[in-house]
Amino acid sequence: MSSNELEAIKKQALADFASFVNPQKARVLKNAGLDIIEGKREGALVWDITGKKYIDCITSAGSFNVGRRNPEIVEALKNALDDYDLGGFLMCSRQKAALAKKLAEITPGDLQYVMFGCGGGEANDFAIKLARGFTLNTDIISTVKAYHGHTGFSLAAIGRDEYKKPFFPMVPGFAQVPFNDLEAVKAAITDKTAAIMIEPVQGEGGIFPATEEYMKGLRELCDENDILLIFDEIQTGFGRTGKMFCCEHTGVVPDIMTIAKSLSGALYPISATIYREELNDFVMTHAFTHLSTFGGSDLGCIVGLAVIDYLTRNKVPEHAALMGDRFQQGFDAFLKKYPDLLIEVRRKGLMMGLQYTNDSIGPRMSFQLAQNGVMAIYTGNEPSVMRLMPVLEIQPDQVDFVLDALDKSMAEIMKQGGIEAY
Ligand SMILES: Cc1ncc(COP(=O)(O)O)c(C=O)c1O
Repeated sequence: MSSNELEAIKKQALADFASFVNPQKARVLKNAGLDIIEGKREGALVWDITGKKYIDCITSAGSFNVGRRNPEIVEALKNALDDYDLGGFLMCSRQKAALAKKLAEITPGDLQYVMFGCGGGEANDFAIKLARGFTLNTDIISTVKAYHGHTGFSLAAIGRDEYKKPFFPMVPGFAQVPFNDLEAVKAAITDKTAAIMIEPVQGEGGIFPATEEYMKGLRELCDENDILLIFDEIQTGFGRTGKMFCCEHTGVVPDIMTIAKSLSGALYPISATIYREELNDFVMTHAFTHLSTFGGSDLGCIVGLAVIDYLTRNKVPEHAALMGDRFQQGFDAFLKKYPDLLIEVRRKGLMMGLQYTNDSIGPRMSFQLAQNGVMAIYTGNEPSVMRLMPVLEIQPDQVDFVLDALDKSMAEIMKQGGIEAY
């Protein structure tokens, strides 16, 4: 196809998106230089259908840990389609049993039982239902700026009112306290508290890693008060932070852990809520407490098993840790070179956030980075933070390419008058 024809297809797709999907989203993406129509996708790379190449540092917030269209996972899914379909949620299946067993094996401590779902919000909904059902208490403490999904219980746990206000009243019994603040959690605990729920690194909130002291303190508080600890590892799981699961950095084991995104290989949706054996007392007496027609489908389980096998066999989390360190060297130089623009870098493995001086810089950086061949977007609950979450097998020369694009982008923003320009 000629480049004119491809340009025309792209224009039509963008216009149809604006007319039939979401005009406001189309406008925001255009302003951020992300009015891209993805064509070919491979490893760390994406090509716009007109041929422009990008390194993907968005990756649906950590859904592509094994890379874009990882050939081994694509092959596993293709082979599975020869023999399987979604299977039935109500039925026992070899694939469900095998993935649940594997998850019990690779998740920390005594996490054992698995409830499958389709997406992250659903996994968190079940975690909250389980906490309430098991403890017979109602209240859930989560954190300011937390993101846990847009479904019912999860939405109530989100720490950003803008997402919730149009739908008030929310499910009652939820309170948010500042992140990394143990005293605030202590003060919020009541005799009705069922669970404390955190992301080990706040993702949409602006990439804030939980401190070791906070994680350990939460565990102690939960043990002392018979409260359940829920870790949402939906962004942080599957090698993103340099370990298979982020909580492994501190040795703190939650009572319930939720996973989604990269378990799917970004090829077939699947999520899971994994919990300690003791909590199964509730599920035993409420066997149909959570139903999800397509949750834990046979195809999804086969993909999930292939993802875990790929990550472990190729030591992908270890590679992510090394590449994260390589990024850090560049960030350290930027902090000295652009002190009026970049005030802090927060990072755990390849979960990286660049804290800029104000909210306008996030969209402007997205725009500049796109011009320089990098797809990246600011965090959902904190636009002053540029989030970088490339695929985990990003190569050293690609890391250097992203650093060079960041350098050029920040230089351009300074040339335009820096933060004063807006
Ligand atoms: C930490 C976290 N929890 C939950 C979710 C919700 O997942 P989903 O969009 O699959 O419902 C997300 C999605 O970005 C997330 O980042």
